[in-house]
Amino acid sequence: MNEEEHLSLRVSAEAHVPSQELRGIQPGDRFTVGRRSFIRGLGIVGATLLPASALLLTQGKARAQSSGSLTKGDADLLRFAAWAEIVESDLWTQYNELGGATKPNDGSPNVGNPPYKLALQNLDTDMPQYITDNNDDELSHAAFLNAYLSSHGAEPVNLDQFRHLPGSTATGVDRQKIGKRLTNLLNLNVDLSWYTRYRSEENPDLGAIFKGPFNILNEPAIPLNDTDTPPTTVVPPPPIPAGSSAQRIQAIANTAGFHFAFIEQGGTSLYPTLALKATSDEVLRILLSIGGVEIDHFSLWHDKAGNAVSQPLAGVIDPENPNGATFPDLNDPATLARLRLQLELTQTNKILPEPCDFLFRESLPPCSVIRPTSTALGGAVATVKSFTADGLFNGQPESFFDFAMELATAADNAQREF
Ligand SMILES: [Fe+2]
Ligand SMILES: [Fe+2]
Repeated sequence: MNEEEHLSLRVSAEAHVPSQELRGIQPGDRFTVGRRSFIRGLGIVGATLLPASALLLTQGKARAQSSGSLTKGDADLLRFAAWAEIVESDLWTQYNELGGATKPNDGSPNVGNPPYKLALQNLDTDMPQYITDNNDDELSHAAFLNAYLSSHGAEPVNLDQFRHLPGSTATGVDRQKIGKRLTNLLNLNVDLSWYTRYRSEENPDLGAIFKGPFNILNEPAIPLNDTDTPPTTVVPPPPIPAGSSAQRIQAIANTAGFHFAFIEQGGTSLYPTLALKATSDEVLRILLSIGGVEIDHFSLWHDKAGNAVSQPLAGVIDPENPNGATFPDLNDPATLARLRLQLELTQTNKILPEPCDFLFRESLPPCSVIRPTSTALGGAVATVKSFTADGLFNGQPESFFDFAMELATAADNAQREF
């Protein structure tokens, strides 16, 4: 039997094994199998539709590209990406515990923190599911990148020694993880310059400087504890009555909404800067493919954040932090006049990137692009700095920042080899 016949037999044998994973398509049985298991099951069926020769070619090519070791530059790029994904995984895990629809990877339903979930749903009723899916994506990114590094003889990234931050103690958190967080969501300064940047025709890579339409300063993005935001807090649909106890938890949820977009716009810029330095086709493919999902996340959260600053929800003021967390109506001419803002740069449904200057300001027409994509503004060091300014690592020791900067500098210094 030649290799092609052997492969063909093996594939069809797999397809005829009664797969538990495929039970997901049976009526009445569909809730027993998670989405990813179901898709994996379909993958087996899909494989049988390909001619064996095509499978052989695909598998042979994958083997050829996946064998051998990485260049130092490619390993450095993937190691920083792994660092960023571990950071993202930690923060999204906290959001998911308190506000997500299910436990990770289509696990059991998640009760979370009921008032926080209701406040998030005032931004969009699907917020819990989106949070869960974003969390799943980050966990998959981190696991994949580290596994890929290991499988190519490169050292994976491990940040476990830095999992010691206190985190929230509010209803909904995983009690086992209290005191074991890598990131700090309890007191954030959320940079909102991305909001203006993507509505502007100017490009930071060509020198433009932006500031956000308002500030979020020293504000939690998750409930701190059950004293500050009791789990019995009643959160009505918007508008939230002024001066009500619901204003605090709504301001926290609104902060989360903007923080989601802040984090993901960081990934949106980071991955193109890394991809530009990749040597192997496969590393380039990894960086472009994961980076595309970061862009997808950013676009989603950009839309949801806008709901915190448009009617009927706009106008929330955190009674505990009125100077740091007030969410104005960014579509209201009177409000914009008072804040000296232009509607063009604030209109909440203008969530798709405005065409802007790109490459050479004078000689080329505007182009709708991700920005920044320069190493200086969107690269690995820039990412560490912006996440640090956000307050995400408050409480981490010097050694945490040293390690982050070591990985980031190596990634920014990587060079494409031919
Ligand atoms: Fe990610
Ligand atoms: Fe992400």
